[in-house]
Amino acid sequence: MSINYNSELKRFTIETKNTRYVLDIVKGKYPIHIYYGQKNDSIELKYKPFLYSFAPYFDEEDQAFSPDTYPSEFPCFGSGDFRETSIKIKNKNGDSVCFFEYDGNRIFKGRINLPGLPFASADDNTETLELQLIDTVTNCKAKIYYTVFPEEDVISRYVIIENHSGRDAVIEKCMSLCLDIPRCDFDMISLYGGHAQERNYQRNPLMHGIQSVYSRRGASSAHFNPFIAICDKDANEIKGEVYGFNFVFSGNFLDEVEVDQQSTTRVQIGLGSENFSWLLHDGESFTSPEAVMTYSADGINKMSRNFHSFIRNHILPPEPFDKRPVVLNTWEACFFDIDESEMMRFARAAAECGTDMLVMDDGWFGARNDDSAGLGDWYENKNKFKDGLAAFVAKVKANGIKFGIWVEPEMVNPNSDLYRAHPDWCLQVKGRTSLLSRHQLVLDMGNPEVIEYLKDIFSKTFNGVKLDYFKWDMNRHMSEVGSPYLPPERQGEAAYRYMLGVYELLDFFKKRFPNTMIETCSGGGGRYDLGMMKYGTMIWTSDNTFPKARTKIQYSSLLAYPASTMSCHVSNPENVCSSPAELKFRYEVALGGALGYEMHLPNASKEISDTVKQQIINYREYEDVILRGDYYSLYNPFECDISAYYYTDANHDKILLSVIEVHGMRERKYKISVSVADPNAKYYDKISGKTYTGRELIYGFDYRTHDADPYSQMWYFVKQ
Ligand code: DGJ
Repeated sequence: MSINYNSELKRFTIETKNTRYVLDIVKGKYPIHIYYGQKNDSIELKYKPFLYSFAPYFDEEDQAFSPDTYPSEFPCFGSGDFRETSIKIKNKNGDSVCFFEYDGNRIFKGRINLPGLPFASADDNTETLELQLIDTVTNCKAKIYYTVFPEEDVISRYVIIENHSGRDAVIEKCMSLCLDIPRCDFDMISLYGGHAQERNYQRNPLMHGIQSVYSRRGASSAHFNPFIAICDKDANEIKGEVYGFNFVFSGNFLDEVEVDQQSTTRVQIGLGSENFSWLLHDGESFTSPEAVMTYSADGINKMSRNFHSFIRNHILPPEPFDKRPVVLNTWEACFFDIDESEMMRFARAAAECGTDMLVMDDGWFGARNDDSAGLGDWYENKNKFKDGLAAFVAKVKANGIKFGIWVEPEMVNPNSDLYRAHPDWCLQVKGRTSLLSRHQLVLDMGNPEVIEYLKDIFSKTFNGVKLDYFKWDMNRHMSEVGSPYLPPERQGEAAYRYMLGVYELLDFFKKRFPNTMIETCSGGGGRYDLGMMKYGTMIWTSDNTFPKARTKIQYSSLLAYPASTMSCHVSNPENVCSSPAELKFRYEVALGGALGYEMHLPNASKEISDTVKQQIINYREYEDVILRGDYYSLYNPFECDISAYYYTDANHDKILLSVIEVHGMRERKYKISVSVADPNAKYYDKISGKTYTGRELIYGFDYRTHDADPYSQMWYFVKQ
């Protein structure tokens, strides 16, 4: 049993393999958070109110018990909690004050499916607590769901709001997760960035007040990632308490952390209020996206591994092929300069070097010769492919490889047939200029007519074309967010409905084109989130393929997401990587995730082609531990001159260790130790040919950085 209700104490206890979450219904009405952390029977589980002046109370006889100070499971706007709240609903009187109190519970096997949204899949081990709450003044109801993933130490939370008020109500804020922790001595880890500089690691002490990361861009974005963690100030890769949080959604979000007057910490994950409102007619309900949290008593690595297993077991779609294909993507080598004869050269080179798939990137459709025109015109370009796509793809596949294609369904160039026919299909605000970005506008994906059109055009264009793979891109953020399709009172829903439309179309692609794989992308890793991972097997990690920068991006991505989600390409040696040493370095960096190439292989020298061929053969040996193994980070490249990490299988029979030097500093010394090794076994390193004892690996060896730049080194230890 993961969830227990003690009706005498009015106490809910939720347990995973290593963690415990406790909430009480105090005074029969108030859902109060008591504990979240490791299972520990010596901890006293009791909320003790403390009297704070200025804190409003319910009862003259118990003035210390105040919504402004108690650790609330669902803090409500305008009702005595002056911290950031989770729920704000405008009622028929025009005010937004609400207060939800306990109304019952249901504990059941499985979970609630979230209509139109991505959510974690649940098996028979899963249990869910439905906490039923009611606002007795408006008669609106809230149901908070806690779904438990015991093996991965993950608990998820989502909320359903029901309007039974007899009138319209407008949800102005609905956060999916709220956790009050009675401490403030934490650091917060978050990931900031931008295009081609995604997911920079930052770690700062919490301060009194609010610290938040967010997106107002319509996509989760490269600018902040929805993942955050709070941890002990001295927590490191292997020690200390760490709480990790994430959001199963790809649009606007708000991760809010507030330290209050009592020095307690409130963490909230959800949609936020700035770009969201939702009109609920009487009798209607609204379901929030799902948020997830995990706890590790053993440092940052354990938090990451909890999330990695959770994502692999409950978020990612099944792998469509026996082996993850090593792709050759045309973008960095060709940009828009593609046609049948050039692509056939790529297909032959792809097969010759041992890659599994050619992915034809942007430029194959409509009048798309650069990024200023053609986007939205999803029909084949007969000047580039004279016999049509189907015949061309058949010729590519005659080389014994698979074939993938680039699409960007959510966008349109004003210089396109689609825009000329349907200017009203774009997000726009009456009387205001719609700003351009990369010469493009954003389609109103919340308009069902747009979604139906896209389903139809892609079905027709790809009918009979034997595709194995889509690269689904998204290359601008939303401004002037208004929907011509929605009435004025629903304009606050446009950005959220947009995401529902994107998910519907992704779902359609999966059903209409079964056995294909989707790689998602937003100018690189601009939608690197759990929502996209529900549909796409991997994500184009970044447009930045410079290996030192990539090493840092990969380190931070791995904090929250498994290696199998990172699409890692060795990029064009003709432009930037002509020496074999550079090629080795790029390859060893790309081995952090799913290997691919983005080089001009048809023009590559024999030496380069032969090297690539051998690299792919070696990767085939490592790929299981990289894509399905456990990840251990040893050094953080944002804090050191190296990144060092290893992947290992469940029995630790195989250990793939990498050190990537990122700063080119001479003579820095580090200790590299492999704590998972069996002390009594011997390990053969297949790369150097040396044998080590397990004890030696655990004790570790000294590593000195090198004069040579770039420099990286790998070891592949196999237990004897
Ligand atoms: C942005 C992506 O990140 C690139 O890999 C490439 O697909 C271009 N878009 C194509 O326009």
